[in-house]
Amino acid sequence: MTSLPVIPLNDGHRVPALGFGTYPLTGPEGVTAIASALGVGYRMLDTAVNYKNETEVGEALRVSGVARRDITLTSKLPGRDHGYDETLRSFEGTIERLGVEKLDLYLIHWPNPSVNRFVDTWKAMIRLREEGRVASIGVSNFTEDFLTRLAAETGVLPAVNQVELHPYFPQEALLEFHREHGIATEAWSPLGKRAKPHEEAVIGEIAERHGVTPAQAVLRWHIERGVIPIPKSATPARQAQNLDIFGFELDEADIAAITALGRPDGRLFDGDPNTHEEM
Ligand SMILES: NC(=O)c1ccc[n+]([C@@H]2O[C@H](COP(=O)([O-])OP(=O)(O)OC[C@H]3O[C@@H](n4cnc5c(N)ncnc54)[C@H](OP(=O)(O)O)[C@@H]3O)[C@@H](O)[C@H]2O)c1
Repeated sequence: MTSLPVIPLNDGHRVPALGFGTYPLTGPEGVTAIASALGVGYRMLDTAVNYKNETEVGEALRVSGVARRDITLTSKLPGRDHGYDETLRSFEGTIERLGVEKLDLYLIHWPNPSVNRFVDTWKAMIRLREEGRVASIGVSNFTEDFLTRLAAETGVLPAVNQVELHPYFPQEALLEFHREHGIATEAWSPLGKRAKPHEEAVIGEIAERHGVTPAQAVLRWHIERGVIPIPKSATPARQAQNLDIFGFELDEADIAAITALGRPDGRLFDGDPNTHEEM
């Protein structure tokens, strides 16, 4: 099995250039689907307390037979656990459910600005990293303003910001900010989930020209922009297809044509982190 390209993080660690999204894979079927993903070659898994599948992810890890050290395991802290002590406690629950000793990447799931505790939460994450319990720390759904506040109040920028990003919502300004500040971008709903941007004619034409599927063209678009997509599929054939995107390249015009599908109201739901909060 050829190994995946890697992306260097601002803390010296490296993560695979593409990961596997595990929401909403739960129960025995979820374990089978996640173990299948590891079997076809994914080496980074994305879970969260709020996906209620950390136990399944840990189980899949063990049944897959893939060595723990070869896997980048990501989980996320839920809104209801914001706060310094709450974060330290929540972390213990996460690693217990996963059945591991340490985490590779730990993210604040949503900033929840009205609660206004994400800075204290971040300070606890910094401590977990200093203690070696977590290799890398990051955030999810943070805007430029929230990132700037973390840096101003703690001096530590996240290694990763995982945000909604797909052809209908290409996040050009945030990507530029991330590039300037050395923050790696992960794309959630990288295929645009139910909005299915891969069904757009322009993506079909690009895919046909490169001899790949429309979903592969979309995932390659992320790679070309330096973004780490974390597609979810419960289907082994699609899992393999979504991983097989390192043998072709898109040109500048292809990338621009897909980015041009973006629109201001392109979010899948009203997930503006300034107003949308999740507990
Ligand atoms: N941080 C956050 O706030 C946040 C929010 C949302 C999601 N996430 C993470 O991001 C991950 C991925 O996002 P997502 O699941 O919302 O959306 P997604 O990965 O864009 O899309 C998943 C959907 O696309 C289908 N699909 C997968 N591969 C395909 C292919 N090659 N051709 C056609 N259809 C395909 C899947 O169906 P099948 O399963 O039937 O193949 C599924 O219905 C989640 O699992 C989760 O880990 C994070």
